[in-house]
Amino acid sequence: MGTLVLDGISKVYKGSTAVHKVNVTIERNEFATIVGPSGCGKTTTLRMIAGFIEPTDGVITLDKEELVNTARSTFLQPERRGIGMVFQSYAVWPHMNVFENVAYPLKLRKMNKADMAAKTREILRIVHLDAYEKRFPHELSGGQQQRVALARALVMEPRLLLLDEPLSNLDAALREQMRIEIKEIQRKMGITIINVTHDQVEAMTMSDKVIVMNSGHVVQVGSPMEIYNRPANSFVAKFIGSANVIPCQVVERNSGPTMTVRLFDTTLEIPAFDTNRNEGWVSVRPHHIVPDSHSSLRGKITNKLYQGDRIEYHLQVQNEKIAVVTDASESNNYNLDDEMGINILQGVWLED
Ligand SMILES: Nc1ncnc2c1ncn2[C@@H]1O[C@H](COP(=O)(O)OP(=O)(O)O)[C@@H](O)[C@H]1O
Ligand SMILES: [Mg+2]
Repeated sequence: MGTLVLDGISKVYKGSTAVHKVNVTIERNEFATIVGPSGCGKTTTLRMIAGFIEPTDGVITLDKEELVNTARSTFLQPERRGIGMVFQSYAVWPHMNVFENVAYPLKLRKMNKADMAAKTREILRIVHLDAYEKRFPHELSGGQQQRVALARALVMEPRLLLLDEPLSNLDAALREQMRIEIKEIQRKMGITIINVTHDQVEAMTMSDKVIVMNSGHVVQVGSPMEIYNRPANSFVAKFIGSANVIPCQVVERNSGPTMTVRLFDTTLEIPAFDTNRNEGWVSVRPHHIVPDSHSSLRGKITNKLYQGDRIEYHLQVQNEKIAVVTDASESNNYNLDDEMGINILQGVWLED
């Protein structure tokens, strides 16, 4: 099951570029997530892989088979690609019960009745719907309907499963449960999955590989840890987790693994970055800034967001607005308009 390669994939609509020269490889059995804000080109990319949209430019290969190659005018029809897809809206047939919905693709393939029933029941067990096979869609919750759609895609044993924000219409608790279940199904069945979401938590928690898109461009590809710890630019730093992006100057290019930058009126040692610029930005996570009453670096508290186990403060530090996250201990309990002394513990260099 499927290694997918996107090579220079673009989609232009009447002169406006929805997807620009995307190069990505998704390995077999990988769980990859395309994440980015609304309108950045996620659905367009996914539908080009499925074959519902023809790219303006580029090549897509699955298991070394060319699905589309614009230079050679090859285009494999969607139904011949062996790809399953689940959409945000629950695309299940209202006049068919659960069993019939899931069995339908096998019926189209003219599978014999006994094999069809066995295969359908096997998949229904995997998605925890075996007790519901006689129910009709209107007798199911949103989460159950989405499981029917998932089962119907899985019953085909697709080489690749594409998920376009399938969880975004579910409430928060159900969404979290479905994330865990989809991961379990993937492990059990050993399938390659490409998931699309605008939710960075979903991207981080579910994926082996995260593909961050912005304005039609892929801006970074990496493991969740790589993306979080080494954001490629300030967009990624802010979009994946929250980050303070603070202007800084390079004061010393140490020969070792670190370099020293100046931000506000203080210096900070950060991981060395191969840059010839003297000015840039440093990304500092809110929990890497800690209150310190003795520090000369101070800010005025403009917002306080109590979150039970932690408190998020917004500080005005010189010309910058800074977020600080602390444990909700008594010693960290400040009031609105108080001055807070802070220490910046760590950060990473950003070029733009
Ligand atoms: N059929 C279309 N005609 C013109 N523009 C489109 C069409 N489909 C999508 N777009 C544009 O392409 C961009 C990417 O859309 P889409 O892939 O749906 O984004 P996402 O799924 O990330 O929200 C958007 O600016 C959108 O308006
Ligand atoms: Mg979309």
